[in-house]
Amino acid sequence: MLTREEAQKRIMDLSHEINLHNYRYYVLSQPVISDFEFDRLLKELEQLEQAFPEFVLPDSPTQRIGADLTKEFAQVRHKYPMMSLGNTYSEEEIADFDQRVRKILVEVPEYICELKYDGVAIGLTYRNGRLVQALTRGDGEQGDDVIANARTIKSIPLTLWGDYPDEFEIRGEVFMPRSSFNNLNSERAQKGLPLFANPRNAASGSLKMLDPAEVASRNLDCFLYHMLGENPPADDHYQCLMKAKEWGLKVSPYLAKCHSLEEIYSFIHLWDQGRKELPFDIDGIVIKVNSYRQQQMLGYTAKSPRWAIAYKFKAERVSTPLLSVAYQVGRTGAVTPVANLEPVQLAGTTVKRASLHNADIIRKLDLHEGDHVFVEKGGEIIPKVVGVDIAMRMPDTAPVIFITHCPECGTQLIRQENEAAHYCPNEYHCPPQIKGKLEHFISRKAMNIDSLGEGKIEMLFDKGLVKDPSDLYSLTYAQLFGLEKVYISEDGLKEKKISFREKTAQNILEGIEQSKQTPFEKVLYALGIRYAGETVAKKLAGAFGDIDKLKEATFEELISVEEIGDKIAESVRSYFSDPDNVALIEKIRQHGIRFSAEKAVAEIIEDKLGGKSFVISGVFSGYSRDRLKEMIEKYGGRNVAAVSSKTDYLLAGEGMGPAKLKKARELGVKIISEKEFLKIVEGF
Ligand code: IVH
Repeated sequence: MLTREEAQKRIMDLSHEINLHNYRYYVLSQPVISDFEFDRLLKELEQLEQAFPEFVLPDSPTQRIGADLTKEFAQVRHKYPMMSLGNTYSEEEIADFDQRVRKILVEVPEYICELKYDGVAIGLTYRNGRLVQALTRGDGEQGDDVIANARTIKSIPLTLWGDYPDEFEIRGEVFMPRSSFNNLNSERAQKGLPLFANPRNAASGSLKMLDPAEVASRNLDCFLYHMLGENPPADDHYQCLMKAKEWGLKVSPYLAKCHSLEEIYSFIHLWDQGRKELPFDIDGIVIKVNSYRQQQMLGYTAKSPRWAIAYKFKAERVSTPLLSVAYQVGRTGAVTPVANLEPVQLAGTTVKRASLHNADIIRKLDLHEGDHVFVEKGGEIIPKVVGVDIAMRMPDTAPVIFITHCPECGTQLIRQENEAAHYCPNEYHCPPQIKGKLEHFISRKAMNIDSLGEGKIEMLFDKGLVKDPSDLYSLTYAQLFGLEKVYISEDGLKEKKISFREKTAQNILEGIEQSKQTPFEKVLYALGIRYAGETVAKKLAGAFGDIDKLKEATFEELISVEEIGDKIAESVRSYFSDPDNVALIEKIRQHGIRFSAEKAVAEIIEDKLGGKSFVISGVFSGYSRDRLKEMIEKYGGRNVAAVSSKTDYLLAGEGMGPAKLKKARELGVKIISEKEFLKIVEGF
């Protein structure tokens, strides 16, 4: 057993030694011990720290992941605004930049060329050699302090060594190496979670997570490229970076001093080619004037320094033969054309399919069968076809013509005015759309059956067990237990197996049972009537009270409800005019799902209104509309949604619709003001 003193000394030594190994591994990429050795040291430290928590050092390697969840990030003003760089896309523009620089300086500048990392900017502040702040860009003026997350990035030192200034900031880019990105996405695919489109999005999403332990698992990395502070350790950018390196900070090794345009261009060419071999994404290079004195002479525009510029690479583009065009019907009925391609390498992955977006794009591309097409990767997961290699076109090939009928259900497609997409209008009977409706039915804001999330409902549909929402309520344990299916991801590379064991099957059945308590307004929303979102469903449920009244409601009655316009009213009418929908409701109803609003039956305290019916419309000065409705019931009246010949009173507030007023007049409905109403019921 160690004495207290010995333990303290050992904790200090181990912390120091492990920090050094971290630095060698994560910053220099030159480990000197095996992972096994490293883990042994870490374990020893953890055990000692547990026994002697009073000796845990603030920069202990075990402290990278703080135990606390970060509730939210503190917004902090940047000491120096975080500017961006001017972008260029051609060598001529770089020559222009060089001209401008030379003109102002009247001397020959030395440039430092660097890679432009495709990640998220971060500003790290070190005070007395300790990391004290990590700010994101935010709006450039103030950003989020994500220090708890930054501490989990192993290449960011928590403490420095050497002759660092008392306080300085160093900026850089947090990024996710491509291998971590691929692992993360395949894990997410397996869990049925949405994928990140690219490593940049993954890095920025990760850095903003609230649980640092989760961030730690994302394997982020960071290169630092810009020092700021009152007392820089040298007179130029390059030397300052070299100093930063000495203090333990991770500075990119891919730097070049350039003295001519030719040297700059060759750096560009080198990395435009070489970037495929890098383990992380870059989207260009950055050219900076090296001398701080010269930087000062050049100064800044409102948005960016005049002493630096970014050159952005053109998106990588390849040409490959088109094999066929497939048409995918989405959950909403939108039809997307997709090009099946001869597999080709593009920016580190094999591409077999690319989006063609819509019929207009196909026409604009003048796409013919068998064409060689140019493919580019944009910000999305699926690459896109950006052009046709006309020189490669065979004679007498037919143009690609957009399909006229749904490939899933055969219904004729429609295209709404001003919309680019074609739709399959068979929304209640087309398989992918049924799946979409089922997913909507179980979603959180609808019936909230989350035990059926993450692809489980899709599997029940694919297995033929659930064809519509009513089938959910007759599922049995025997049907669910042992159910299994393997799904292949879109790129055909990943497999996801869904299987229902005992617990899953039970959870599903419990979730379904619980959903029977869902209030009517949510059930109505769950039906997925087109244009009947959450708010509309609430209004309709409130106005009509139950599904039968809603079913019988006329177009006029529907539009007289607040916020219900022609489009929604038509959609509701059309929903109930489809006998399949009515049959579905009956089937669901039999299982005890709520199809009427729970009314807090207002106690009638004095039957002054004797069952007379009221429609309330507009805004009132004395009481809210809900309060007035309550009063009507309290005094024995009835609230109805729409003006009809049976309505006794229209309680008219400010700004009520002219149509309603006109209708009330025509039908001889008595129109009263708030004041008149109060006089009737309360006598004043
Ligand atoms: S220097 C005052 N160097 O690109 C400008 N930026 O719009 C300081 N970036 O905001 C930035 N690699 O997020 C600099 N080697 C590099 C960079 C780099 C990537 C990012 C950074 C910046 C943006 C430019």
